[in-house]
Amino acid sequence: MPPSNIPQHVAIIMDGNGRWAKQHGLPRIEGHRRGAEAVKRCLKAAQDYGVTHLTLYAFSVENWSRPKDEVDALMDLLDRFLQDQLPELLKRKIRLRVIGRYHELPDNIQARLREAEAATRDFDQHTLGLALNYGSRTEVVDAARSIAEAAQAGTLQLDQLDYDTFRQHLYTTDMPDPDLVIRTSGESRLSNFLLLQSAYAEIYLSPVLWPAFDEAEFKNALTAYAARERRYGKTAEQLIH
Ligand code: FPP
Repeated sequence: MPPSNIPQHVAIIMDGNGRWAKQHGLPRIEGHRRGAEAVKRCLKAAQDYGVTHLTLYAFSVENWSRPKDEVDALMDLLDRFLQDQLPELLKRKIRLRVIGRYHELPDNIQARLREAEAATRDFDQHTLGLALNYGSRTEVVDAARSIAEAAQAGTLQLDQLDYDTFRQHLYTTDMPDPDLVIRTSGESRLSNFLLLQSAYAEIYLSPVLWPAFDEAEFKNALTAYAARERRYGKTAEQLIH
């Protein structure tokens, strides 16, 4: 039985691929490959439980500093994932939305992403967000630049700037804020992921290494979320009345 209080938007920091590989005496890239399998399981579980938005932290702005072999292997995995999964996204009517500095990704990846985003853009029931070359601080800088340009062009009055207007300049402009952020592998950091959008999100720290993440652990996270009381700064009494 799925829990009754289902989050609309779940965002996941997928961590532990390298440790999973090490534990199994395998190269790191095999951990990432198994991580891509976990992505497919998670996408299915999210849709089955009625989560409308699932956003995955697949590659951060900081990840470029990993060894070149590993970065190349991750891009290769992503390329294959997009190729394999596009028919699945179409079949299951899932819109793909990329958040991050798109234009700095390799050309072949940009082309695949554009193709998948264009092919799925009209689906409005389920969204898969992929955070690629993403970092919250970079996102805020990009938003500030975009706001400055709009002000210069005269389409935005700075004295009327409020958070609702500000959020329209974030990469996530057409997505609801995450209700639940999951981080796997027992780490308890937000690592520059959706920091503004997660202002009121509940956080679930899973001990499971990402390649081993499955439907049962997804359900554990949903169950923990359902038991929480979200107060948005109010007192418990105010919520009752
Ligand atoms: C963290 O594990 C994971 C990443 C840096 C990348 C996430 C990538 C995937 C799950 C696979 C590909 C994704 C898609 C969408 C096809 P880590 O390497 O930091 O693990 P460690 O902390 O144990 O070393």
